[in-house]
Amino acid sequence: MSTLLDNTFAEPAPSPLLLLGQGRDLASERGVECTGELPAASDPDLVERARAARAALGSRAFVLGHHYQRDEVIDFADVTGDSFKLAREAAARPEAEFILFCGVHFMAESADILTSDAQQVVLPDLAAGCSMADMAAINQVEDAWDVLQDAGIADVTLPVTYMNSTAAIKAFTGRHGGTICTSSNAEVALRWAFDQVGGVDGTGKVLFMPDQHLGRNTALLKLGMSPTDCVVFDPRKPNGGLTDAELRDARMILWRGHCSVHGRFSERNVTDIRAAVPGVNVLVHPECKNEVVEAADYVGSTEYIIKMLDAAEPGSSWAIGTELNLVRRVARAHPDKQVHYLDSTVCFCSTMNRIDLPHLVWAMESLVAGRTVNRIVVDADDAHWARVALDQMLALPGL
Ligand code: 13P
Ligand code: SF4
Repeated sequence: MSTLLDNTFAEPAPSPLLLLGQGRDLASERGVECTGELPAASDPDLVERARAARAALGSRAFVLGHHYQRDEVIDFADVTGDSFKLAREAAARPEAEFILFCGVHFMAESADILTSDAQQVVLPDLAAGCSMADMAAINQVEDAWDVLQDAGIADVTLPVTYMNSTAAIKAFTGRHGGTICTSSNAEVALRWAFDQVGGVDGTGKVLFMPDQHLGRNTALLKLGMSPTDCVVFDPRKPNGGLTDAELRDARMILWRGHCSVHGRFSERNVTDIRAAVPGVNVLVHPECKNEVVEAADYVGSTEYIIKMLDAAEPGSSWAIGTELNLVRRVARAHPDKQVHYLDSTVCFCSTMNRIDLPHLVWAMESLVAGRTVNRIVVDADDAHWARVALDQMLALPGL
């Protein structure tokens, strides 16, 4: 008998690694198991089952689909949008008993906060998280605020928090008088925030969480600030890795977080595509690094990207730097334009892609059978304060 087989029969040694599906750490195994039966992706009746379940739910359910979702899911969305549009849509459906959120966890949390207690928000796969949102934990944010207090600047600092964050951090933002923003309203949100602490040209500060790139890009490109106005607060370093003097001199205190999808694009990608496709228009999402955004021709949210392509001249060439599902859909919608992906390697958002047709069918069929699965519920106190910050965003001027 080989050593390998001997080991197979031995009692397994305690492992520090996550053993998927073995119930060792249910908190971190979110979404690994689905109660009931998850249809096989190969089920030839899957589309028919989805249609039947959707029809059976009728107006009791409303299905929201983020632009980064797979086509098979988008086909069943009642509305598609960026995170700002979807938050608004969720808030505008008080008649829907169930909101099926085809997006990621923080979006479903926001939908729960913006809907009534009688409504149930369902995320078809609980493993659909967001690595950026996970880069800011509430205890780290509270510790960071203590650092600002010790440096004597908390009184002149307002938190502005990107939608891509946990409900607990949105609640922290509400408790401290700040606002949420998305990639489509970051400029308006920052202008509003600076107005609360003495104006863009004053000495007040913003603590921007968790995406350093969206914060920096908006400050430099839209508010006319300089790189020296920005510092990066690293939650894993004492004092954020900054001196008190650096904190006091800064206008934008940027949390050290980023999107693992948009962080892949490089300035070299832009140079290469310009060399390969003369006259190409480079259009990127503001979660990309500043050097990429500076090298591009246009920058904006997913909704902006779609509108730009809708308005583009037939025959024009575009290179788009955002998630691949969206870029492929845009390319298909515009056969009269040349649409390129900015990076030569594939760049799906792995967590957005967790939502697939089997999970959507499973969630909808469970609701039809009278069983709510994967309901997202934010605790009442956090929900209250997060709503304060979300309502502040929804009330921003000009939106
Ligand atoms: P928007 O939906 O605001 O464009 O953001 C993109 C994104 O990364 C969502 O997770
Ligand atoms: Fe999070 Fe980036 Fe995926 Fe959006 S694209 S859900 S920010 S990891």
